[in-house]
Amino acid sequence: MARPISVFVCSACGGETLKWQGQCPACGEWNSLEQRAVRRPSPARSGSGQGAPGSGPTGAAPVPLGTGTELCLERLPSGQGELDRVLGGGIVPGSVTLLGGDPGIGKSTLLLQVAAYVAEGRGVVYASGEESVSQVGLRARRLGIAATALEVLAETDLQSILDQAAGRRAALLVVDSIQTVQSAAVTASAGAVSQLRECTAELVRFAKTTATAVILIGHVTKEGAIAGPRVLEHLVDSVLYFESEAGSRFRIVRATKNRFGAVNELGFFAMTEAGLKEVRNPSAIFLARAPEPAAGSIVTVMRDGGRPLLIELQALVDRMRFGAPRRIAQGLDANRLAMLLAVLSRHAALSLQEHEVFVNAVGGVQIDETAWDLPVVIALASSLADRAVPSSLVSFGEIGLTGEVRPVAYGEERLREAQKQGFRVAIVPRENAPRKHLEGIEVIAVSRVSEALEAALNRSSPGSTSRPAPARGQS
Ligand code: TYD
Ligand code: MG
Repeated sequence: MARPISVFVCSACGGETLKWQGQCPACGEWNSLEQRAVRRPSPARSGSGQGAPGSGPTGAAPVPLGTGTELCLERLPSGQGELDRVLGGGIVPGSVTLLGGDPGIGKSTLLLQVAAYVAEGRGVVYASGEESVSQVGLRARRLGIAATALEVLAETDLQSILDQAAGRRAALLVVDSIQTVQSAAVTASAGAVSQLRECTAELVRFAKTTATAVILIGHVTKEGAIAGPRVLEHLVDSVLYFESEAGSRFRIVRATKNRFGAVNELGFFAMTEAGLKEVRNPSAIFLARAPEPAAGSIVTVMRDGGRPLLIELQALVDRMRFGAPRRIAQGLDANRLAMLLAVLSRHAALSLQEHEVFVNAVGGVQIDETAWDLPVVIALASSLADRAVPSSLVSFGEIGLTGEVRPVAYGEERLREAQKQGFRVAIVPRENAPRKHLEGIEVIAVSRVSEALEAALNRSSPGSTSRPAPARGQS
């Protein structure tokens, strides 16, 4: 007989201790320990139930790799190409995926659409603990998917959900949300960390033994993590986050963990009256610019998640009034900005020591690559001079401490994307210039910062933001 014992699990870090304490010894968080009952398996039976069918009573037997173990791994298309690409080509049978995101962002909408699509050919159970069947039905009608074979289950008891999914031999089980399900094996209430861990572990076991693909919806805490950092992420195969700019109808799905594909893939969606629609040309979203070129604005090609993406960068340089000058970067690394300002001052005779500097990646994206160095520097110079670079100009490239412009990865791919989106001039690192002439786009290859600024400002026009010079000498 397994002897039930209890442990205390931290709701912040997931760390375990054997006795209750006011403070978690692992992460130092106060009042975060919750009691949880665990049944330790007796040594003789440990490891059973996880392995291949037909395993003996003493546990799973090893199976030679390549003897049909990959047979059932044909991926299920989700009906949403953007989601499939984030998952690495579709939903893997037997996998467990966690989809996190703020309330109201569209998690239920997306998965209802996916569930309805998959239900056209396979058994699907959509377990909703958040909404009643009629509420889900109402939403489905709005999405135009009311008449599908999809089965909705308004249930929060984990065992009943698993029984229903197993009884229907479901190919896909959606749990909306993991915070609402409850396992009878744990005394804590739904949403408590001990429940989340137990239910998720149970769902993982279910997925692996029945080859049912399981997708869990998870709410995000204030800190932006699903139910306390890293509590569930370890257990599941893939973790997707659904994000959006406040007030925007565009949504981005990002994989932060993926056992069956690349991480940091991005999928783009737009929320419409009829549900989520894929966005096939995401560059267009971030480029909704005023037709008039403006001083301080430039377009760059970032490459996030396996494809190039055009983004507008904006810089504002303003004379400092008092105190220490501010350097503020939105969506970009502020330390790197400080470095670029030093390089500008030292190698391009452009000192912004007495100016406040603001830099922004438009559209709320976060750029984590060095390719934005060169466009940011050009945008700063453009703002300082109050001269606008042409709106058909793009730039990308890394800048080194000696004022040299260094190449970045995927140069040609970025150039092609810019050309496809109708850009006519590109200022890029010399090593990124294509060997063959690219139709329709003039490539200006530079190797020094000063060269790049000269090339950009030579083509600029007086800024449309021109305003009377600030009154000087005010007290
Ligand atoms: P929902 O999927 O319920 O979000 P989550 O499950 O992440 O909490 O999405 C709710 C929002 O989406 C709500 O504000 C209304 C909006 N919405 C649409 O704009 N169009 C639609 O077709 C649907 C179903 C929802
Ligand atoms: Mg929901």
